Amino acid sequence: MIQAIRGTKDILPDTIDYWNYLEFTAKAVSESFGYKEIRTPIFEKTEVFSRGVGEGTDIVNKEMYTFADKGGESITLRPEKTAAIVRAIIQSSLYQQQPITRLWYFAPFFRYERPQKGRLRQFHQFGAECISSPYPESDVEVISLAVEYCKSLGIEDYKLLINSLGNEQSRIAYKEVLIKYLLENKDKLTADSQNRLEQNPLRVLDSKAEQDKAVVEGSPNILDSLDAESKLHFETVLSYLDKLGISYAIQPRLVRGLDYYSHTVFEFQHSSLGSQDSFGGGGRYNSLFSQLGGKETPAVGFAMGAERLMIILEAIGKLPQPEPVADYYLLAADSKFIPKAIEIASALRSKGKKVLTDLIRRSFKSQMRDAGKLNIPYVVIIAEDELSRDSLLLKNMLNGEQNEILIKEFLK
Ligand code: HAM
Repeated sequence: MIQAIRGTKDILPDTIDYWNYLEFTAKAVSESFGYKEIRTPIFEKTEVFSRGVGEGTDIVNKEMYTFADKGGESITLRPEKTAAIVRAIIQSSLYQQQPITRLWYFAPFFRYERPQKGRLRQFHQFGAECISSPYPESDVEVISLAVEYCKSLGIEDYKLLINSLGNEQSRIAYKEVLIKYLLENKDKLTADSQNRLEQNPLRVLDSKAEQDKAVVEGSPNILDSLDAESKLHFETVLSYLDKLGISYAIQPRLVRGLDYYSHTVFEFQHSSLGSQDSFGGGGRYNSLFSQLGGKETPAVGFAMGAERLMIILEAIGKLPQPEPVADYYLLAADSKFIPKAIEIASALRSKGKKVLTDLIRRSFKSQMRDAGKLNIPYVVIIAEDELSRDSLLLKNMLNGEQNEILIKEFLK
């Protein structure tokens, strides 16, 4: 038997209601902030991500599905959306036509990671990006959007970690003290981190290796290297969050796994996830537009992993009740009434009702059992006696009540 690729999952009808719920809630919350949906291709030229996400990151170094197409072009299945959206916005000049662009998405992504609970090779993200504002109000808008989404889903006991990577000058100053510290502790680091140390020292802070963690714990605090402009930006973000009653914890070693961030970075964590405890994250990316060949444009956004949200909702008992597949089950008491059942079913559907008919000519009893199993609230019975009076029987499956009613009246 041919099996699905490791790290991918079929979404079968028994869980599709959960997926629709996550996506419809994402749409409703995003629209309440005035965000419009964006859809971009599943694959892009590899350089969108190698230049966008950064050559030194795990995503680009180890996790991308990259291949040459038949024309010899290097193609990558998108590992994330921010760089792809920036490519699309530059290409369409959207950011030059309107003062501010607000976008959301719910889509599949691909990373070649070792599969485990909450970590897949094809996974889904809900994300939002706010493009063209340099001000802290936009950082706070996207964080609020993420918080509102959690609230709408009933997720309350999460942790929001926040940090600032400052502007470029601040990061240059910080990298200097960080490299100095890491060099002093070089022999305690993994080979991977030793290699990254001078080129991309911030990546060492994001290392998941136990051996590196002890060194990272004692590393200099990035917030001490922020210049006045960066400090003011960060403090203003925090003061808006305070005003909105959004609680957070400052985590000075939070740098995130992508290279494009500046100023605010944040992450959402939940204890039900185990070792993969982060279910969302984001931040400001003021230089990504210019890195991808566009006009320098400030922007900020976040993304949340749908599979991880699903694990949380299951753990806290907040997965939605699945809806019955239909409002009415059309039951022909004898196969000679099937044409009438089909006719009435069609009339009901044209009135916007959801209707199911039996397609395998089952007995009265087994159709009843079928309707019960599917939790369909009403069964419409077409039978000899009632039909001779141009009527049908309507059975309320919740209270068992059954009434004869004229077909004409019923359809009205
Ligand atoms: P990220 O932190 O790489 O950020 O991914 C965001 C979320 O996607 C993670 O918190 C996690 O829930 C989910 N995720 C990532 N990899 C996997 C995986 N292999 N399996 C299951 N879930 C996964 C970004 O992707 C940025 N584009 C976020 C952003 C938007 N920053 C600014 N705008």
